[in-house]
Amino acid sequence: MGSLKVTITDVKGERRTFDNVEEGLSLMEVAKANGVEGIFGDCGGGCSCATCHVYVAAEWMEKVGQPDDIEMDMLDMAAEPQPNSRLSCQIKLAPELDGIEVTVAPAG
Ligand code: FES
Repeated sequence: MGSLKVTITDVKGERRTFDNVEEGLSLMEVAKANGVEGIFGDCGGGCSCATCHVYVAAEWMEKVGQPDDIEMDMLDMAAEPQPNSRLSCQIKLAPELDGIEVTVAPAG
């Protein structure tokens, strides 16, 4: 398993970079493990709560890809959805996402 770099700006605007993040974790798990403010992950990564809503930095949108239909439905119910909205539990960290940057969305 490789280790990756992830940068998350929390809901208060504090930007933190995490090195040595384990490949295969979800972004939500990384945020929770590091106490990132505004990420709750209430459903434990089941794509059914939208408390892990983030905005993906523009330059990472293509690599992250589009949400599937189930995630899209959840995002519709999230507070302030944007075209770059994703549920962070549905973003699994893989080598091509090394260096990814996201911002935590406001809670509903
Ligand atoms: S943790 Fe519930 S939708 Fe992501």
